[in-house]
Amino acid sequence: MLNLCTLTSLFLLSATPLPREDGLRLQEDNIPAIVQALTLEEKATLVVGGGFKSMLSGFLGEKGVRVPGAAGTTRAIPRLGIPSIVLSDGPAGVRIEPTRKRDKDKTFYATAFPTGTILACSWNQEMVEQVGRAMGNEALEYGIDVLLGPGMNLMRNPLCGRNFEYYSEDPVLSGRMAAAMIRGIQSQGVGTSAKHFALNNQETNRAGNDARVDETTARELYLKGFEIAVKEAQPWTVMSSYNKLNGEYTQSNRWLLTEVLRDEWGFEGLVMTDWTGRRNTGRQIAAGNDLMEPGLKSQIRELVSQVKKGKLAEKDLDICVTRILELIVKTPTFKGYAYSESPDLQAHAKLAREAAADGIVLLKNEGTLPLPKTIQEVAVFGVAGYQTCIGGTGSGTVHAPYAIQIPQALQAAGIRVSASIQAIYENYLQKKARKKRKASSMLGEAIPPEFALDAQALEEDRADMALFVIGRQAGEGGDRRLEDDFLLSDIERKNLKAVTTAYHRAGKKVIVVLNIGGVIETASWKDLADAIVVDWQPGQEGAAALVDILTGTVNPSGRLAMTFPIDYFDIPSSANFPYDSQGKGSMNTFRKVRDRGRRNVDFTEYAEGMDVGYRYFNRAGVPVSYPFGFGLSYTEFTRSEIQQAEESDGSVTVCVNVKNTGHAPGREVVMVYGDGVLKGFAKTRRLEPGETETVRIRIAPYLRPRSFLMVS
Ligand code: BGC
Repeated sequence: MLNLCTLTSLFLLSATPLPREDGLRLQEDNIPAIVQALTLEEKATLVVGGGFKSMLSGFLGEKGVRVPGAAGTTRAIPRLGIPSIVLSDGPAGVRIEPTRKRDKDKTFYATAFPTGTILACSWNQEMVEQVGRAMGNEALEYGIDVLLGPGMNLMRNPLCGRNFEYYSEDPVLSGRMAAAMIRGIQSQGVGTSAKHFALNNQETNRAGNDARVDETTARELYLKGFEIAVKEAQPWTVMSSYNKLNGEYTQSNRWLLTEVLRDEWGFEGLVMTDWTGRRNTGRQIAAGNDLMEPGLKSQIRELVSQVKKGKLAEKDLDICVTRILELIVKTPTFKGYAYSESPDLQAHAKLAREAAADGIVLLKNEGTLPLPKTIQEVAVFGVAGYQTCIGGTGSGTVHAPYAIQIPQALQAAGIRVSASIQAIYENYLQKKARKKRKASSMLGEAIPPEFALDAQALEEDRADMALFVIGRQAGEGGDRRLEDDFLLSDIERKNLKAVTTAYHRAGKKVIVVLNIGGVIETASWKDLADAIVVDWQPGQEGAAALVDILTGTVNPSGRLAMTFPIDYFDIPSSANFPYDSQGKGSMNTFRKVRDRGRRNVDFTEYAEGMDVGYRYFNRAGVPVSYPFGFGLSYTEFTRSEIQQAEESDGSVTVCVNVKNTGHAPGREVVMVYGDGVLKGFAKTRRLEPGETETVRIRIAPYLRPRSFLMVS
């Protein structure tokens, strides 16, 4: 509550500017002096972000906003030369407003890179680092200081609405991918924010849910990826999540933010909250949460009053202020970088295509791919075949300059597209577009639902092969549904049946393309398909990458970063993940979970412990539709026996010779397991038939297994 004294002092603060402290200005080496010179109000101002102005500038106007559409800022203290810095989403590329009212001649589109999931399926750390460099460069050239990514929560359950932003069900794969991304982005002199720390594995009631988990599980699964990212790449910042962890908000959890993150792992950077609003700000500061985002003025007043009343030690506030100043002095804004607002989008588009192709996973191939030369015309079925889902919705959206569509990419590769089928889908999409309200410029769009194909259309279609695209959209603020999402809808099933029946009757093949952000059910229908390709949510160039794979221009080398179960209820966390069979996703709603009789989601019991993903399926011997690490190639590889060497720093180096024994050039993924879990991995370069590469994989001391290492 504000009292009169506080109001008077704030008024006095704005009415009488403080002296310039004899010209004292923030420098890299005078942070302690600056902290001393700051008033209590100024310190409180520094730890509270600049509000929603930049994020909502599309609605509220651009006045006073440096980068419209950026997620947040910090507040400046001009008298001490402390600038405001700019924070922007997110994990698949820079999310800012693509056009500006004040600058109508220019555009500010950013490259929509492949989402986290498909990057992880590449198992290619160098590629991810390269993508990070390009993303970091776009952030730098658009005037951004910290890019709010990578998103790296573990895929505990396939229905989590934000899984598309995340990497894997395995913490080593997640941690390594995040570390590569952080290295890449930070190499450009801009910061990252590893998020959401931690246990934010669902969107349902995300701001109120209490993740109840035992310490071993927390450390070995849900925190391990963050530990790796911190130890291997030192992100400039970490974002504390919305949820609680064992009864305490992560944002005010001293054990998590100070004892584990800093004291044990050696994190040197700053912790900012997710975009929460006001909780107990003093408690957050005392726990080691340095910056409140997006920041409300009432939080500044709250902090001042808490210090004055002795409820918060000023020295705790000083620690957070120091970390904010340490962050600021590293930023391009502080260094006065003259950003161009014109990054090399063409070069980045090329990289986005390569990266997407690297992560596309071939699940099934019965003599169908690569497309033989006899295939001259392909019929594309499915709404997502014409409106590809390049990424998810919410803060992980990117305003891309364009998105290549599958027909366009096929035509560019010299393959005709069935005009009659194309006309049916395009007419449908045009009608939908006419009805659609103006899409939110901020958060991305849903793809329209499927419609039942009419039998006549199939009769008239004369293409040589069918591409049946199944699309899924999901995003921030809601989890996915079981029906019509994890499971195919009735319309999708009927359409798939109709297309496969017609094509197979004519002796032609059907390739199913999964344009999905997270796992869907495959076991009940996979026999119908001659080939199945998962192109995930692959970014703006994804359709071109897909066609590179279909034609064999690129040999598929993606491997699943997660398990595809046979049945949703085979997954142990299905017993307590708050899924809704029919409900619609909405921000922070309590879902009524009819099927399991669960009425609220105040808490989620992580009762399955370590039984997440392949750890469970392998241990319990439960069959799956496609296992973790699975993916086919157009060539074959053999591996030698492994050699292990102990290094003086306590790490182990594993060496394996990988030989391409098939007939097409290609890349292979080598995974090293110890104690039954992934310990390290690497991807070979493109090996010509007959060529061998010695792959070296280092297992850090803190990841060393007790039992023997195995290679897969
Ligand atoms: C999301 C974060 C994001 C932030 C800023 C939040 O709602 O959870 O991932 O960085 O918004 O847009």
